Amino acid sequence: MKHKLGNGAYLVTGASKGIGRAITHALAAKGADLILLARGKKSLDTVAKECREKYGTKSIGTYTCDLSDKAQIIRVAKEIQKKHPALKGIIHVAGYALPGYFGKLKPEDFDKSMRTDYLGAVHLTHSLHSIVAEGGLVAFTSSVVGFMGIFGYTAYAGPKFALIGFAESLRQEFIQRKIQVSVLCPPDTETPGYIEENKTKPYETQVLSENAKLMSAEQVAQKFTKKVEKGKFIITCNAESWMFYHLKGIWPSLVFFVIKGIIKKAQKKFNKAR
Ligand SMILES: NC(=O)c1ccc[n+]([C@@H]2O[C@H](COP(=O)([O-])OP(=O)(O)OC[C@H]3O[C@@H](n4cnc5c(N)ncnc54)[C@H](OP(=O)(O)O)[C@@H]3O)[C@@H](O)[C@H]2O)c1
Repeated sequence: MKHKLGNGAYLVTGASKGIGRAITHALAAKGADLILLARGKKSLDTVAKECREKYGTKSIGTYTCDLSDKAQIIRVAKEIQKKHPALKGIIHVAGYALPGYFGKLKPEDFDKSMRTDYLGAVHLTHSLHSIVAEGGLVAFTSSVVGFMGIFGYTAYAGPKFALIGFAESLRQEFIQRKIQVSVLCPPDTETPGYIEENKTKPYETQVLSENAKLMSAEQVAQKFTKKVEKGKFIITCNAESWMFYHLKGIWPSLVFFVIKGIIKKAQKKFNKAR
């Protein structure tokens, strides 16, 4: 299955900022009709205007919904279905990371993260999958943290790992309908969400991040479109994430050993400086 992007309506969640906005632009450049979803109306309208002016996109619908709330998902899915009886694809990008030391995170932080990043995508897919056309696309956004747990991301790793397992099962059920399922796993990417995330990153997480190269949202969107059209399931965006994805699969203890070394060195330096 190799999904060809464009010519049809795509629902993009998290379309108003960062990676979702960049993917929306890439879809508009390919002539797709757009259905854009996020919580804030104003920034959605800005992206819709950008696509009309830059690519001449004619059909753009904007929908507000808080994906952490199941009742809102059911309501918005009905609205979307009324206006768009068939979808070429659903691309779930909405999500956020709240890093922090495990003991300092609140119980609600784990609940909200699961409801937004995991259940939000699951319930929206459940409400709309029946109108995805044969040969269509359902794509999710996990993370490098979705296949490799990282210090400071205990609230984020759960939903992002869960998304990959969910997508793996769904992929098999969608074979008959020739619907491609893909999971985007971005590394650190310069976005408004990343700036927010940096505010609560533990020292050790910052040190681990320093070893990774920051990508732009446009670079990630370019990797996404290219690899979707190649029929890829897991979409990594740079050589480092590709290497860790495969190494984690075949030699997880080596990956843990390398990360443990970096964390121990960082903690030693931190304790010395105090
Ligand atoms: N940036 C990175 O380094 C990075 C790395 C790996 C994976 N990712 C993943 O990539 C995705 C996009 O990240 P990003 O950095 O581009 O984020 P971003 O800049 O914060 O943009 C997030 C988008 O999702 C929407 N959104 C957030 N919470 C929502 C909710 N509860 N309901 C509906 N819409 C919601 C936001 O709009 P509103 O605020 O108006 O709702 C916005 O359009 C996320 O799933 C993130 O986990 C990011």
